[in-house]
Amino acid sequence: MNPLRVLTGITTTGTPHLGNYVGAIRPAVAASRNAGTDSFYFLADYHALIKCDEPARIQRSTLEIAASWLAAGLDPERVFFYRQSDIPEIPELTWLLACVTGKGLLNRAHAYKAAVDKNTAAGTEPDTDVTAGLFMYPVLMAADILMFKSHRIPVGRDQIQHIEMARDMAQSFNHLYGEHFAMPEAAIEESVATLPGLDGRKMSKSYDNTIPLFAPREQLRKLIAGIVTDSRAPGEPKDTEGSALFQIYQAFASAEETEALRSAYAEGIAWGDAKERLFERIDREVAPMRERYEALMADPARMEATLLAGAAKARQLATPFMAELRQAVGLRGLGAQAAAAGAARPAIKAALPSFKQYREKDGQFYFKLVDAKGHLLLQSAGFASPRDAGQAIARLQGEGKGALDGLADQLRPVPDVGRADIEAALQALKNAAEA
Ligand code: TRP
Repeated sequence: MNPLRVLTGITTTGTPHLGNYVGAIRPAVAASRNAGTDSFYFLADYHALIKCDEPARIQRSTLEIAASWLAAGLDPERVFFYRQSDIPEIPELTWLLACVTGKGLLNRAHAYKAAVDKNTAAGTEPDTDVTAGLFMYPVLMAADILMFKSHRIPVGRDQIQHIEMARDMAQSFNHLYGEHFAMPEAAIEESVATLPGLDGRKMSKSYDNTIPLFAPREQLRKLIAGIVTDSRAPGEPKDTEGSALFQIYQAFASAEETEALRSAYAEGIAWGDAKERLFERIDREVAPMRERYEALMADPARMEATLLAGAAKARQLATPFMAELRQAVGLRGLGAQAAAAGAARPAIKAALPSFKQYREKDGQFYFKLVDAKGHLLLQSAGFASPRDAGQAIARLQGEGKGALDGLADQLRPVPDVGRADIEAALQALKNAAEA
């Protein structure tokens, strides 16, 4: 079986903080060590241009983020680790996708809509200060994902819509030009903590409440001393509930350590002492990485070489794939025999999934949905009559994925087939019927 491909991008506009470490870097580095997965982590510097027009900051952030991921243990030999702007196939694919993407789809993107709503509320023109780059953000992101036929995209909730849009674009393209793209799925890690920041709200650059991951030791201590607490005096029992300090501690500590701090809270530990414990616990995890980080930051030329090697490795996949896509859409050399005028499109009909109805020995009527190559995607339970089976098929054809939940009782799970594949097949059928 092909390995599962996991891909995620990090926009290069800031300095990694503890929230990024706990929420993204640490779980991703751990996941990248799983056998049976190919991981793609990249610095989304084209995306950075959408929200940042300070060249020095983009360059600095690219270095800091790259050094942070490597310092945290990412092994560039084992994964694909590259800078988006080193892969010219990405903007090229962005254009091919833009040409199969409805403008209306992009009108519905949350980030764009939020900008328009803000303008409308302020009484200005809807598109004031909205760049075409912001509008195209989802297309560039779809190119990142589809270029490497990635399956799992670990992202925050705010990015789910972008993954859905990438699927829409993949489906439109596949429908027009044949099956080239895999269907990606967002992966939201429920178990990963969102870290509170200094003021107790979610740690985020936009709230200016972050603790840089690799702040020097003494600065780390100072920053931790600034975490908000209530005004309970030493000796007074303290609440763990709603305590940012406690939550941050939990994200770094073992279960036993956490229980020990919980008892200390109940026994009235002084806030200053609790902060000192938190500081020492974080520093214990961060210090060895900080040392590697500082070494990497001191040698930007080596970092550059690592990124270029990563890009070369990624392009071994991207370059031939892009050639295939150019061929598919008709960006072709004229030297070889040009397609005869009127030559048919690739046989799209044959490339569609299909429903098959049949009767089993038990006398019941069944159907299944198979993909273009005949692989089983969906299996029904038994129906008393062929008419009942036919009605269920008609609902799936007419309503598409919307019918899946309503029909859940009449469907049987197929091992190793994800809902995204089923939804994609139903959508492809629907698209074909509407074409
Ligand atoms: N938009 C993502 C974010 O802000 C970053 C990103 C760019 C990304 N391209 C991607 C994430 C592709 C996942 C896959 O978090």
